[in-house]
Amino acid sequence: MKIFLDTANLDELRKGASWGIIDGVTTNPSLIAKEGVPLQDQVRRICDIVDGDISAEVVSTDAAGMMREAYELAKIHKNIVVKVPLIRDGIQTCAKLSKEGIRFNVTLCFSAGQALLAAKAGAYIVSPFVGRLDDIAMDGMNLIKEICTIYKNYGYKTQVLAASLRSPLHVSQAAQAGAHIGTLPFKVLDMLFNHPLTDKGLDQFLKDYAKAFQEAPAGR
Ligand code: G3P
Repeated sequence: MKIFLDTANLDELRKGASWGIIDGVTTNPSLIAKEGVPLQDQVRRICDIVDGDISAEVVSTDAAGMMREAYELAKIHKNIVVKVPLIRDGIQTCAKLSKEGIRFNVTLCFSAGQALLAAKAGAYIVSPFVGRLDDIAMDGMNLIKEICTIYKNYGYKTQVLAASLRSPLHVSQAAQAGAHIGTLPFKVLDMLFNHPLTDKGLDQFLKDYAKAFQEAPAGR
């Protein structure tokens, strides 16, 4: 599973990129707003930090506006994937401009039927939101499984990006379900490293080593 960072914060992106395990970035209007920098400027900076697919979302809700924004965003960098919401005009925009070679991430997907529409429209990525379904007492991870099954059944090339992942457990479950990509807030990526037995084991290794070599009398 590819790992993307779900953030528009440059410090988080620099740190994540320095670990050498980040395959791409997803942003959305809320994440961009948090940084207080206009969308296109921030996306340009992100492209300089991470060499991978960078999702940048339109803010228009009509097809004409989305198409105009899609052309502008796609011009910023070869790695840009234009994000459109899974509404009628978003699907229309994706279907039309995918044929022209613009890559789309169809976002705010909450049902397998919606994911089928994204695949039919030639989306490069579809983004089902796991955590937000869990929030309303629905099984978010089951949606990932359903979409992966449908896409496999018919050979759709659209990649399933598990979004709204809130914990390390969500990440491993998304990978087991067959998601092509998981997008993680920085905090969740950071938590993935943690295991008490790793810390305990390392502590013991270093203590044993120090005891044998650093505390031994010289010459031994
Ligand atoms: O980028 C969309 C998604 O990952 C948002 O997650 O936690 O706000 O539901 P969340």
